[in-house]
Amino acid sequence: MKLNLLTAGFILLVEVNAVFAQSTIDDINFGWRFAKGDHPAAMASAFDDYTWERVDLPHDWAISGPFGKLTDHGGQAKLPWLGEGWYRKSFQLPEEAEGKRVQLIFDGVMASPTVYLNGKKVGSWIYGYNSFHLDATDAANVDEKNVLVVHADTREHFSRWYPGGGMYRKMTLRLVDPVHVPVWGVFVTTPRITDDSADVRVQIEISNTSGAVKEVGVESVLLDPNGNEVSKTRKTVHVAAGDLQVSSFRFQLASPLRWDIDTPQRYTAVTRLLVDGKQTHREETPFGIRTIDWTAEKGLFLNGRRVPIQGVNMHHDQGPLGSAFYPRAMERQIEILKGMGVNSIRTSHNPSAPELLELCDRMGILVFNELFDKYGQTAGVKCSTADYVNNYAEAEVRNFVRRDRNHPCIYTWSIANENGPLLRNEDGLAPQHVAKMVGYFKKYDTTRPITMGCNNPTAAVKSKGILDALDTLSWNYQEKYLTSLENYPDKATCFSESASAFGTRGAYKLKLPEHKTDYSTDGECSAYILTAARWADIPEVEIDRMIRYPFVAGEYVWSGFDYLGEPTPYIGGKSQPNPNGIQARSSYFGVIDLVGFPKDTYFLYRSYWKPQETTVHLAPHWNWEKGDKVPVMLYTNGDEAELFLNGKSLGRRKKGAKQDATQNLAFRNTARASSEQIDQDRNGNVIAENFAYKAVDGNLETRWCADGKSTPQSWQVDLGAKNAFRCIKVVWEEAADKYDYTIECSNDSKVWKKAEGQTKLNGQQSLLTFPEIKARHVRVTINGIQKHYWASIREVDVLSEPPQSTTTREPLVNPYYDIVRRYRLCWFDIPYEPGELRAVAYKDGKRIGEDIVTTAGQPATLRLVPDRQTIAADGMDLCYVTVELVDPNGRVCPWAMDQLTFKVDGAAKLIGTGNGNPMGHDIFTDDTHPLFYGKAMAILRSKRGEPGIATLMVVSEKGMMASATIQVGGND
Ligand code: GAL
Repeated sequence: MKLNLLTAGFILLVEVNAVFAQSTIDDINFGWRFAKGDHPAAMASAFDDYTWERVDLPHDWAISGPFGKLTDHGGQAKLPWLGEGWYRKSFQLPEEAEGKRVQLIFDGVMASPTVYLNGKKVGSWIYGYNSFHLDATDAANVDEKNVLVVHADTREHFSRWYPGGGMYRKMTLRLVDPVHVPVWGVFVTTPRITDDSADVRVQIEISNTSGAVKEVGVESVLLDPNGNEVSKTRKTVHVAAGDLQVSSFRFQLASPLRWDIDTPQRYTAVTRLLVDGKQTHREETPFGIRTIDWTAEKGLFLNGRRVPIQGVNMHHDQGPLGSAFYPRAMERQIEILKGMGVNSIRTSHNPSAPELLELCDRMGILVFNELFDKYGQTAGVKCSTADYVNNYAEAEVRNFVRRDRNHPCIYTWSIANENGPLLRNEDGLAPQHVAKMVGYFKKYDTTRPITMGCNNPTAAVKSKGILDALDTLSWNYQEKYLTSLENYPDKATCFSESASAFGTRGAYKLKLPEHKTDYSTDGECSAYILTAARWADIPEVEIDRMIRYPFVAGEYVWSGFDYLGEPTPYIGGKSQPNPNGIQARSSYFGVIDLVGFPKDTYFLYRSYWKPQETTVHLAPHWNWEKGDKVPVMLYTNGDEAELFLNGKSLGRRKKGAKQDATQNLAFRNTARASSEQIDQDRNGNVIAENFAYKAVDGNLETRWCADGKSTPQSWQVDLGAKNAFRCIKVVWEEAADKYDYTIECSNDSKVWKKAEGQTKLNGQQSLLTFPEIKARHVRVTINGIQKHYWASIREVDVLSEPPQSTTTREPLVNPYYDIVRRYRLCWFDIPYEPGELRAVAYKDGKRIGEDIVTTAGQPATLRLVPDRQTIAADGMDLCYVTVELVDPNGRVCPWAMDQLTFKVDGAAKLIGTGNGNPMGHDIFTDDTHPLFYGKAMAILRSKRGEPGIATLMVVSEKGMMASATIQVGGND
């Protein structure tokens, strides 16, 4: 049989173990009974679960909804994930189980699972995202039926996004001989690698649970990426009864083949244990040979070459499937991400399903493997940070690292994300907590750097020591890595979260925003993607930063795909008010929407992350009303393009061409201040960070603010080089006459000279003009402030020319948006007329391609496009079918929102429907779902062991009908 690589993760152990000494029960994930609520009697074998729902794993108990009341907080998708649930499964062990150990491996149960076998408690776990394993031998029946019961309880788990509920990942039942390798008991490292040779070290744990000492033959064989044996060693060890021993092997391989993102090839270490000449255990451990150097000076090096991280953050859910993990769903996401040039994933902010790492190994994706968001309740236990670190964290680290450490794709471990109590040093012990966490990781793996996602630059002040124990530092948003560079010049860094820009696929708002936080009031964030969270930036700003700061290893865009929960900017709650009461349930951050349709920024990233490939992508669609004035944008790896409407040229545009001659030299340059304030609410949540750079971020809504009322306070900006300028504009937080201040200039930031000129005060603005000053640094010192005021500045512009007074406002005049024109091409206010819009792109004067959008006519039919024609009949493989409403010429009708009804017959079943609308409250598991801006998605799951044809039929509310068939199994 040809094994489908995707679904192999689910059945691999079965395949392997059918042949070798270790075996599993291959259908353990199928045929469970489930009931939500409190059913303690269900732990007993004899309990009658006949009326319970019949489910297969993976299963997320909350994804079928319903969505919560309109007033519910949207942070966790308004879905009923909170509560308890019980799962029951009856099974028979095979005859060969006699005398074996019965081990249960759970990839993740949300949350705090307790496991019972035949009425006996076998064990429990806490953190819902982590994998764990239990030994159930003493409770197992070999001759009779077994009843496995799992109780999950999310009530103590806190989450900022949608966690899901229940047995949302697979489990494995592993049967092993008393002399065996424990779960995750093989560890392969490559301590020395050159082009000519590589040292490989294989460390094997051997457990003897029999009652007698055993002489064990331990064999380690290395296979090259083609499966050929390249080395073999064997030794004999004596393992006492009940003992665990570690056996180490060293190999030297000539001309090693490297694992790389371009050549993701792996070797395999085969481990065999033999007792009395009989094999008692065999297992395969894939590993990679690669070097990783994450440097403070130049970023990340993989096998000696600099690889800029072109990364995305990914939460664990799979949109309409909720948190239920299907390997194919993940593989499809990675395929889509690779199409835009992604080479790395951050598993924000928790352990992923193990298959994600397997896929990244195979598909050439580097992984920033993160264990936690915060500690305490976010990790499933209501307790203090200190309590968590001292009493709970190590067990989680142990499982996480032991499970994952052989994957070459992982280049760093992350101990937390934006962990406020640590970064603010709330209990005064943060340096010790961080050091302890790092120590736990190093106990299980010393081959990778340990990092943490940080968002509070004040934590980087060296004298506080909070970040001392970390090997590298990772920063979320804006230019916080500059503080870390100053304080920890020897620690390498990366941009663990960038962007957090908003967009609703297909929802082009003709009136462009005036500033970054100018959100639309109808709950749809403009598909032109020009707004971002107040703490974050639009993608162009980030792409530009990565070019300017090559010491930063690269960026992880927040986020790759939209995810359930966190519908910022309409999230509601104290820190993010939602005055219009918009009822959104999923995020707007994704470069790709919740069901996998790319937004236009996909093509923006693609044009910079895959510069050798041609990208020419025109937006928006071309179905508007007469009289509409439409902004048109082109995303391309070219540098110039000409736009034509119905054959008539609308002009040729070049990237970077400025609209007006005035240059703001301060904009997004490095700013510092005598002190910086962080606003916190009563619970210590950071609600605003008023750092120095906020006064050069082009956003009048943000500000620099001094920490306290003492004066003088000063703020200064480094223009990067000596520059000539004729005007300095300061926009204060309050009326300009409330402040007593001086403005000075300097070439070296030591000797300062007062900038003399003519000052005009206008509301909050002071405008100082002079014939010309040449300097590199500009400083504003606030010498005095009136009672009830404080030293704070919204924006400082150092202008090449005094601003012109203009009465007409063009779109994107805000200097914040100047950068947009550098990375995409824009034509504004194009008077709409139906027909064909065409852009021809050029690079270095040579035509590289074109894109055309055409006005769609009347809706004529539904079009169904399956992502694959054949899927495996293993009960786990999926087919994603795109549904579009098209005109007679096959053009998508971009405004279509028609209701659809879905039906699947034959060898598959419908498990999810969706359309990428963050405000949709249509149930994902229902057979009806509307189109959203012309598109929707249906997800089919194969039936296990039932090969054949599956047919999807879709009918629209207006009676249009279409069907698609796929092959399930049969080609194997
Ligand atoms: C970050 C946080 C992420 C996500 C993001 C949205 O501060 O680490 O989990 O909430 O903001 O912008």
